[in-house]
Order: sequence, then structure tokens, then C-alpha cells
Amino acid sequence: MIDNVRNNNSRGGILIVVDGVFSMEGDIVDLPPLVKIAKKYGARVMVDDAHSIGVLGATGAGTAEHFGLTDEVDITMGTFSKSFASLGGFIAADAKVIDYVKHTARSLIFSASIPPSNAAAVLAALDILESEPERRERLWKNARRMQKEFRDLGFNVGNSATPIVPIVVGDDLDAFAFWKELFDNGVFTNPVISPAVPPGQAMIRTSYTANHTDEQLDRVVEVMAKVGRAKGLIS
Ligand SMILES: Cc1ncc(COP(=O)(O)O)c(C=O)c1O
Repeated sequence: MIDNVRNNNSRGGILIVVDGVFSMEGDIVDLPPLVKIAKKYGARVMVDDAHSIGVLGATGAGTAEHFGLTDEVDITMGTFSKSFASLGGFIAADAKVIDYVKHTARSLIFSASIPPSNAAAVLAALDILESEPERRERLWKNARRMQKEFRDLGFNVGNSATPIVPIVVGDDLDAFAFWKELFDNGVFTNPVISPAVPPGQAMIRTSYTANHTDEQLDRVVEVMAKVGRAKGLIS
């Protein structure tokens, strides 16, 4: 199989599919070497930008824009359920690819399309994304602040480079106990256990928006420090 891929003598084409931003750990895919490998072996590249659209890139267009590789990514897909605050999703590619998807994708055949109200919400969100870049700036300010605050406190935030900032706890039960204590102190996070992360690397996933105020983030840092110390995660 690997040899087939290396030599590109498999019967079909080769499609490399990656996340732009990894949803649990908040790290960004290292796209440039991947695009290089794809070129070398005649493969196409598809990026799942569910967590990148509206976040990465000078205009929020996603991972390919972030790396200046817009022309090198063959298929970009995203969801409307995150930065667009709606439901549904999109796929962007050459017309030929879109035509193929339209006529073969399970989700487009004998299934209802998204309601017009959802599509309208997405279009409105897109307008805001384009016309109010200060929101993205604020989002990044919040993200960078929280990455730094947690690192300075001594938490393990892995390779987080986006507004998704995890705190690695390790044991599943410890992660749930940490989550509960944070919740009881007024801070909502997501507990993440295997298989969403490798066994033994359970974590608390925190994520930030442009609308979080400095005061709210002050409170999060204060509670994290208090609960983190009580749980022995930081000293
Ligand atoms: C990387 C990634 N792709 C796709 C999706 C699917 O999004 P939706 O729930 O809107 O279908 C998610 C959802 O969390 C995701 O994290």
C-alpha cells in the first residue's frame, strides 16, 4: 500500500486529508512540508478548516491563507457550526471537483439542504468577518493572552497556537475532577478523554472568542490558578 502511494501506481488518485487546526489541542498543521510531499508523489491536498475559517490567515480565509499556500490546496472544507454560528458546511475546490461532490456525496443525495435561515446567518457572519477585522484581532489577543497566562502558571498547554488552549491533565478521572471544580467555580470548559486524545493524555479544553472581556479572562486565570494548585497540577 505504502509502496503504491510512493510510486503513485494505485488505481485511483491520492488525497491527503488533514485538519488545519487540530480541534482538541489547538495546534496548526505544518502545511508546507505536506504540500511538498503531495507534489512529489502526485497527491492532492484537502484541508478541514472547521476550526480555522475566520481565525487563521490575514483575512480569516483559513490554513492555506495562513501559510500563503492558497493555490496549493486542492480542497478546503469547513463547517458553519463554529465561527459562522449556524449549521451546515461548505467545500471549496475547482468546479470539476464540486460538480463531482454534488452528484455523489451522500449528504447531498436524497437529503434536505440547510434551511434558508441558516444560510442567511452564514452570509451575515461572512459580512461581519470581512467588514470587522477588529473582531479577529481581539480573538487573537485573547488567545495569545491565555496561552501565555497558562504557560506562565506552569500548565502544560502542549503546542496550542490558536484560540483552542488545552490543559493536559493525564488521567481521565483527574480531568473530570478538574473540570467539575472549574465548573463549580463558574468556569465552563470541555473535558477531553481517549479516543479524542491518546490514552493517558486527558485534558481540559478551553477555547476563546472575540467577545470574551478582559475581566472574564482575569476570572478564568484566577480560577485556573486556584483549582490547578488545589489539584496539584501546578505549584
Ligand atoms: C475538525 C472538524 N471537522 C468537522 C467537524 C464537523 O462540524 P459539524 O458538527 O458542523 O458537522 C468538526 C466538529 O467539531 C471538527 O472538529
